[in-house]
Amino acid sequence: IPGQKVVLITGCSSGIGLRMAVMLAKDEQKRYHVIATMRDLKRKDKLVEAAGDTYGKTLSLAVLDVCSDESVKQCINGIKDLNNAGIGLVGPVESIPIEEMKKVFETNVFGVIRMIKEVMPDMKKRKGGHIIVVSSVMGLQGVVFNDVYAASKFAMEGFCESLAVQLLKFNVILSLIEPGPVHTEFEAKMIQEVKQRECPGADPDTVNYFKNVYLPSSIDIFEVLGQTPDDIAKVMIEASRPRFRNLTNPMYTPIVALKYADETGGLSVHAFYHMLFNLGPLMHVSMTAMKYLTYNTASLVRLSAYYEKHKTNIVVSIYLFCYN
Ligand SMILES: NC(=O)c1ccc[n+]([C@@H]2O[C@H](COP(=O)([O-])OP(=O)(O)OC[C@H]3O[C@@H](n4cnc5c(N)ncnc54)[C@H](OP(=O)(O)O)[C@@H]3O)[C@@H](O)[C@H]2O)c1
Repeated sequence: IPGQKVVLITGCSSGIGLRMAVMLAKDEQKRYHVIATMRDLKRKDKLVEAAGDTYGKTLSLAVLDVCSDESVKQCINGIKDLNNAGIGLVGPVESIPIEEMKKVFETNVFGVIRMIKEVMPDMKKRKGGHIIVVSSVMGLQGVVFNDVYAASKFAMEGFCESLAVQLLKFNVILSLIEPGPVHTEFEAKMIQEVKQRECPGADPDTVNYFKNVYLPSSIDIFEVLGQTPDDIAKVMIEASRPRFRNLTNPMYTPIVALKYADETGGLSVHAFYHMLFNLGPLMHVSMTAMKYLTYNTASLVRLSAYYEKHKTNIVVSIYLFCYN
């Protein structure tokens, strides 16, 4: 259909990619034709079911593995390119083989770069297009025991920040989406996998901090602050009114502000140390309180507005709190 934008999305078998594909395909004004890609079409059923009667009309399927040059080359024919495919990794660094770390970089970093390399020349020639990369809050702020995953998202942020300037010269927009926790298979896969893991090579203290301190607070945080894939998909659609960075969860704005408020980095490191090791049990209490508050949407909206308005004050309070 003339005027319809072609949107190619990677990683549509589940989670954010799936919801994004469905939401765009169901656009009432039919502004998008979605090419929903996945590395294995055997996993297409959930997407096809959610797409309903848009399947075959505004949504079509294609195979794409971001780790394969050939697969990417065969598939590309898009105007707007949405790089969502990603994998996670948590745990003590000592217990993770380098090969496993490389897999994360192969998907989260080189997978995205491979896609961009493929779609960019045509966009530059046409002087138009929009590339959206799903990064993470962990692309802006490192989180304990997520060392390798955060490193992969930081790498993407650096890559995109550099490339965005050049692309602007060609009228090609590059945007990053930075979700906090999102309820998808990502989280379920992570928790399941971690519970079974032995952590060979890590000392007992580290394993204890990982399993008995980090993990419970991470589960709490997911439960209270977690967004749905639909929340993220909505932010992505808004990203068509292009901003370079798009944090999806206002609760994380103060954490990012904290980082930029102190260029020595000490504030962030000490704040996270304090939160994890000194306030662990207290955090559970405050998370429960927040959960209570967030059950009420009106309170959530007020709370978010408060964070937005008072973020500098919150940063100062955290600063005083950590150094007293
Ligand atoms: N969930 C969160 O809390 C969260 C927070 C911040 C950022 N993110 C980011 O959001 C993005 C989507 O994650 P999600 O939460 O929706 O997780 P998800 O449900 O696990 O979905 C990830 C998708 O990526 C696909 N994928 C993995 N390796 C691939 C490859 N080599 N080629 C093509 N597709 C591949 C998976 O396909 P298979 O079915 O074939 O494995 C799956 O469809 C990721 O970039 C992630 O880093 C997630």
